[in-house]
Amino acid sequence: MTSTHAFWLAGRAATGTDTFDVTSPWDGRLVGKASVPTDAQVEEAVAAAYAVRDEFAATPAHVRAAALDHVSKRLGERAEEIAQLISAENGKPLKWARGEVGRAVSVFRFAAEEARRFNGGEAQRLDTDAGGQGRLALTRRFPKGVVLGIAPFNFPLNLCAHKVAPAIAAGAPIILKPAPATPLSGLIIGELLAETDLPAGSWSILPVSNDRMPALVQDERLPVISFTGSEKVGYAIMDSVPRKHCTLELGGNGAAVVLADWASDADLDWAATRIATFSNYQGGQSCISVQRVIVDAAVYDRLLPRIVAAVEAQVTGDPSDATTDVGPLVSEDAARRVESWVDEAVAAGAALLTGGKRDAASYAPTVLTDVPGDTTLAREEVFGPVLTIQKTDGEAAAFAAVNSSKYGLQAGVFTHDVQAAFRAHRSLEVGGVIIGDVPSYRADQMPYGGAKLSGVGREGVRFAMEDYTYERVLVLTGLAL
Ligand code: SIN
Repeated sequence: MTSTHAFWLAGRAATGTDTFDVTSPWDGRLVGKASVPTDAQVEEAVAAAYAVRDEFAATPAHVRAAALDHVSKRLGERAEEIAQLISAENGKPLKWARGEVGRAVSVFRFAAEEARRFNGGEAQRLDTDAGGQGRLALTRRFPKGVVLGIAPFNFPLNLCAHKVAPAIAAGAPIILKPAPATPLSGLIIGELLAETDLPAGSWSILPVSNDRMPALVQDERLPVISFTGSEKVGYAIMDSVPRKHCTLELGGNGAAVVLADWASDADLDWAATRIATFSNYQGGQSCISVQRVIVDAAVYDRLLPRIVAAVEAQVTGDPSDATTDVGPLVSEDAARRVESWVDEAVAAGAALLTGGKRDAASYAPTVLTDVPGDTTLAREEVFGPVLTIQKTDGEAAAFAAVNSSKYGLQAGVFTHDVQAAFRAHRSLEVGGVIIGDVPSYRADQMPYGGAKLSGVGREGVRFAMEDYTYERVLVLTGLAL
């Protein structure tokens, strides 16, 4: 019999009156049952977080750091079991699920390190003007209040880690809502936090359905919202609570640019392999997967067949098989949507070079060229294993093509020219420019977030801690400076 997974209410395991089934997108088998908190239990969690906020902010750094180190260590010890759970509930191939657990181990470790060094305070002498004689300003950061973290399905462990770990490191209580399709990986974080001495109430993990999210969003005891997900839902949240602090990590249609100097056989083989791998990892369900490839005319004819061959070499199939590169999408509905966008592009004149086929929730790795600019595929985030290739002439045209999107999360630029790298950094309207690689590169300690409609604010452990806190100045008077 499949077990029911408890949720985490103010640091302790609890069950509600209802459960929902979590099923594998690959074969529909039941992975587990998640217990759903009642309204009264949600209220209890929010009230506990609110009540503990001052105590938690004052918890010594070594206590918070030790708890974070503990979670990091235990994730590492349970890595294989957790990777299998991620793969089962999300459909992510085991090799990528293993990588995700490794990243979450690092996120909690980075958070422990940041907890130790954050908020050392900054002193500023004020006797630079006569009115400030004998005065000193000390600035420290304090939590804005309880964080409501809302996580997506595509990295069901690590994007929960990116909400929870910085909150604990900064001394801010957190209520985490994992994605309804993939709550079980996030609930594991609760199992590990429950082994620590953090104050009761400082964290809760509540798998509530999306239709119960507005009540949490509106709750005045939760002044900070950290949301990762779609542009539509993200901006609806922000518009509904304009006076709250919202961090939105939203969509993208990541571009990889290949400039004319990236021209040796080794260069082109590397670019093709990276592009093929990172347009298909997690079935393309990453905000920074490669969706648009923009190639200089000087190397286009040599790169195109390499990309198609590398995409066709991706191993598709059962995500629990360690050799699989590309598994199913999160649901059959998701695969049908991708299919309809590709079909629309082909009907409008796009050339389909490979792929373009759906089987239940799986969609074949797909490459298109000549995609008309007014199609859904050209404009929106496909969030599927589909890439489009466009020929351009010169660096300026390539950068303009990147910027023609409403999104701006990350971009990759394949070039050896350091001047071109700096020009890319200056001109590309994105949150991150990756030189010599695809836009999909993310190190969990670096700032991560978007420009334009890709979002507001930054994650990356220290940057999220800054987001969850504000500066408060203390002025001391009558000092012998
Ligand atoms: C995302 O899809 O935004 C997260 C990408 C990542 O963490 O690698």
